[in-house]
Amino acid sequence: MKQQDAIALLKADHKKVKELFGQVEDTSERAKAQLQRLGDEICRELTVHTQIEEQIFYPAIKERVERGHKEEKDQVLEAYEEHAAAKKVIEDIQAVDASDESYKPKITTLSELIDHHVKEEEKEMFPSVKELFDEEELVELGQRMAELKTQLQEQPAQA
Ligand SMILES: [Fe+2]
Repeated sequence: MKQQDAIALLKADHKKVKELFGQVEDTSERAKAQLQRLGDEICRELTVHTQIEEQIFYPAIKERVERGHKEEKDQVLEAYEEHAAAKKVIEDIQAVDASDESYKPKITTLSELIDHHVKEEEKEMFPSVKELFDEEELVELGQRMAELKTQLQEQPAQA
């Protein structure tokens, strides 16, 4: 398998989740089993995604920008807050199931949050990261994230 650099890996995750959100939009409120399956998958994907960012990607950026680079540091700090907001909505989704009329609206809310967050990462953070790290470093970060991702996916699902 070709080594994915950190940015390619995260963008692939973003794309996957975006597709899942699109499928939810196209799913009728009556198709409970389908909604449940999609909701479960979205929550699982995003939980792993936020963990690899928070445990590897964001700390690496933060460490590099500790002195100077105020703008980049602010981008990371804001990203943590957006993750925290997304996690609350994920918990809300997991607290009910698809038979609840609030299920799909909750997923739509999460979709909007994530859409905003992804745009900021892809338009602001990733371009900064490409200036702060060379390609070799990005591949190394990508490798560490891919490993953690595999580990987290192998863990039995919580909740
Ligand atoms: Fe993120």
